[in-house]
Amino acid sequence: MSADVDQLAAPMRRSSDGQPPPDAVEGPQLVVAVIGAGDMGARHAQHWRSLGARVAAVVDPDFERAKATAARVGARADTDASGALADPSVHVVSVCTPTYLHAGFTVAALDAGKHVLCEKPAALTLTDARAMESAAQRSGKELRIGFMRRFDPAYQPLMEYTGRAGRPLLAQATITAGVRPKRLMHDALVNGGPIIDMCCHVFNLWDRMFAGEPVAVSARGYTFSHDKPEVAGIAQRALDSALITLEYADGSVGQIQVSWGLPAGIEPVERHNYVGPAGLVTVDWNQHLALRDASGVTRWRSRGVDPWRAQIEQFNREIREGAPREVAGIAAGTAALRVSLAVLEAIRTQRVVAPAEVADVEAIQP
Ligand SMILES: NC(=O)c1ccc[n+]([C@@H]2O[C@H](COP(=O)([O-])OP(=O)(O)OC[C@H]3O[C@@H](n4cnc5c(N)ncnc54)[C@H](O)[C@@H]3O)[C@@H](O)[C@H]2O)c1
Repeated sequence: MSADVDQLAAPMRRSSDGQPPPDAVEGPQLVVAVIGAGDMGARHAQHWRSLGARVAAVVDPDFERAKATAARVGARADTDASGALADPSVHVVSVCTPTYLHAGFTVAALDAGKHVLCEKPAALTLTDARAMESAAQRSGKELRIGFMRRFDPAYQPLMEYTGRAGRPLLAQATITAGVRPKRLMHDALVNGGPIIDMCCHVFNLWDRMFAGEPVAVSARGYTFSHDKPEVAGIAQRALDSALITLEYADGSVGQIQVSWGLPAGIEPVERHNYVGPAGLVTVDWNQHLALRDASGVTRWRSRGVDPWRAQIEQFNREIREGAPREVAGIAAGTAALRVSLAVLEAIRTQRVVAPAEVADVEAIQP
């Protein structure tokens, strides 16, 4: 079963008397702390605030950053998370730090009795992902992973079109960009590089589209950015490019060509093709979709919804009203990570690797 089918099918989380679940947050205002005040932290803080939550604290060791975001949402700024985690008025923590720190903050927040929305990818290692899963279970609090593409306006039409074309027999995604503007995105030990950081979106999408995890992974890895000054001196530089083949139990196949190795500044491109038994779906993410089938061509064009805001809005409903879970859970985060680690292992060993059997390999890359 897909790691997330349990969540898709989750009933309205209400007790037998129709009331919201016991851990639902009641009262006039949700109180939130945001850990990490970079691009994602600033987004989370602003979206929580615009939904009527009170942002109590914004935490970042870079105090100027913490202060800048805190000032925009009327929060206090801090360089250390312990105050926010010990604050009994805080209901929810948004974890927006570099990926290698996700598990530590997520586990601490859950153990402190907070609900958590942690940015994707869940973690860099299965040990960390499992620690997050265990903490969610023992705390009874809600843990979600920010696979916000589920809230992208292209997502529902893509699911509808691929439903009409029939479950894909062949899927192909090309994701190409210049060297990323932040060095941490190329660091194998910090954000993990594109095989973890970027491909997790596609693995998460395909888990649902193919209705299950791939059973076999083969891949080749490349580094095209050797000569690029932007990534010079990163001790554990991640592979910047890969060609990945995922095989599913029913014989269908997905292929990904990913590169973050072109010259910096080149406009990123992401295109997908889905060949189903009844048609072809083409995607220019996230602007255009087209379905070609026996009835002709059906086209869709984006109407510009902010998926991060929509995701936070939904999580807010899940916490406050016990709405059905739609924001991805940790199982989805772990599943995507398992495929990323299988890809890295396949590149390292040049063998076909089954994600279900992947060991807790280090995210250190070949
Ligand atoms: N959902 C998406 O599509 C999406 C897009 C971009 C980034 N992300 C993810 O969001 C996370 C953050 O990415 P970003 O782009 O905001 O990075 P960023 O570099 O802009 O921000 C990260 C912030 O975390 C801070 N930080 C570092 N150590 C910390 C600590 N110990 N405590 C608190 N803060 C700390 C840094 O000072 C920095 O301000 C990453 O996991 C990334 O993969 C997700």
